[in-house]
Amino acid sequence: MIEVRVKDRVGEKIKGFFPWIYNLEILEIKGKPKPGDFVKVLDSKKKVLGYGYINPNTKIAVRLLSFDEKEEISKELVKQRLLSALEYRKRLNINSNAFRLIHSEGDFLPGLIVDVFDQYVVMEITTYGMVKMKNWVLESLVELLKPKGIYQKVSDYAMNIEGFEEEEKILYGTVPEVIKIWEGDLEFYVDVVKGQKTGFYLDQRKARKMIRDLVKPGDVCLDLFCHTGGFALNMIKKGAKKVIAVDMSERALNLGKENAKLNGLEGIEWVEENAFHFLRKLAKEGSEFDVIVIDPPSFARTKAHVENALRGYKELCVRALKIVKPGGYIAIYSCSFHITREHLFEVILQASRDVKRAVRIVGESFQDLDHPWILQMPNTLYLKGVYLEVFR
Ligand SMILES: C[S@@+](CC[C@H](N)C(=O)[O-])C[C@H]1O[C@@H](n2cnc3c(N)ncnc32)[C@H](O)[C@@H]1O
Repeated sequence: MIEVRVKDRVGEKIKGFFPWIYNLEILEIKGKPKPGDFVKVLDSKKKVLGYGYINPNTKIAVRLLSFDEKEEISKELVKQRLLSALEYRKRLNINSNAFRLIHSEGDFLPGLIVDVFDQYVVMEITTYGMVKMKNWVLESLVELLKPKGIYQKVSDYAMNIEGFEEEEKILYGTVPEVIKIWEGDLEFYVDVVKGQKTGFYLDQRKARKMIRDLVKPGDVCLDLFCHTGGFALNMIKKGAKKVIAVDMSERALNLGKENAKLNGLEGIEWVEENAFHFLRKLAKEGSEFDVIVIDPPSFARTKAHVENALRGYKELCVRALKIVKPGGYIAIYSCSFHITREHLFEVILQASRDVKRAVRIVGESFQDLDHPWILQMPNTLYLKGVYLEVFR
């Protein structure tokens, strides 16, 4: 097996269970590694630190799956990881038949995302090394979950960085284009094949519950970047008089409408528009809302985008503050690791000063418990939400 020896202080980092080795942290490589090859990792004094896979063409050269000399990478190891991930999710008693089973590094399987939607599985591979383990993952998923079908999604972004090619396709059994799931007392259609990400934002489950708690019957609500209506449906189910749900994707909105019908819910106005422009229109019309949700896509994929992203967040915040009623609430989320909760706090502070409205924070939320994260890699905690009350 190819051996990777790392520099002194890097060995210490790995002993603290940090799962990545950057190119520049490597002292020596024994052998000629190809992308995705398994490697044994050693410290500078040649003591074995663990096992991982390598991609010599990327900045993150090695990702470790094991920190134990006796635990080499094998199908058995992958199956064991999947099994303990499943046992953890069972313990959570999730109030839904849809959940994230594997959250990449958070479940010690870097480069792998697995979501379960009722009896179907959607998986996404983001590294070359995981492509090489795909059959082990597939076989283990079939053995453990006995699903009706497994569908593969791909990320062009990841394929470009890592240099592999995979297709979106059914890998096992049959998978319908749209799967019906339930969450609490609501049902949703999930567009697995043509939808965004793996089809449904499972990570916002806890936030949807918090929004349900905040809304009171009779409220007028706004769901910006609504996708297929996760928040909007919860608002109307709680008894909101009216919800305006805005998204730029016609496909997502159409499914949102179907979702409302599926649950026999009326009172949601679905608007296909750029949320930034629509907010301006609402202010001009003098519309006012009791609860506003702002859940944009990731504005900052890399550090270089942070400044622009913050400008976008500030604009959203200022505009929302202008149309929220006194005593109303705004929930704002960031799904980019680079936009931290402190960034959100700062944006809220600046926006409230600009608009001269007093606010207080009433809560925070993060990705739900089936999206575990590890302290060694703060970027595994990517989703944050801040809830504010605007009391003047
Ligand atoms: C993070 S998702 C929202 C998830 C949603 N809140 C849920 O719980 O299902 C972001 C959404 O923003 C939409 N979007 C992206 N840019 C937009 C824009 N400028 N205006 C309106 N919608 C936009 C995307 O189509 C996507 O559905």
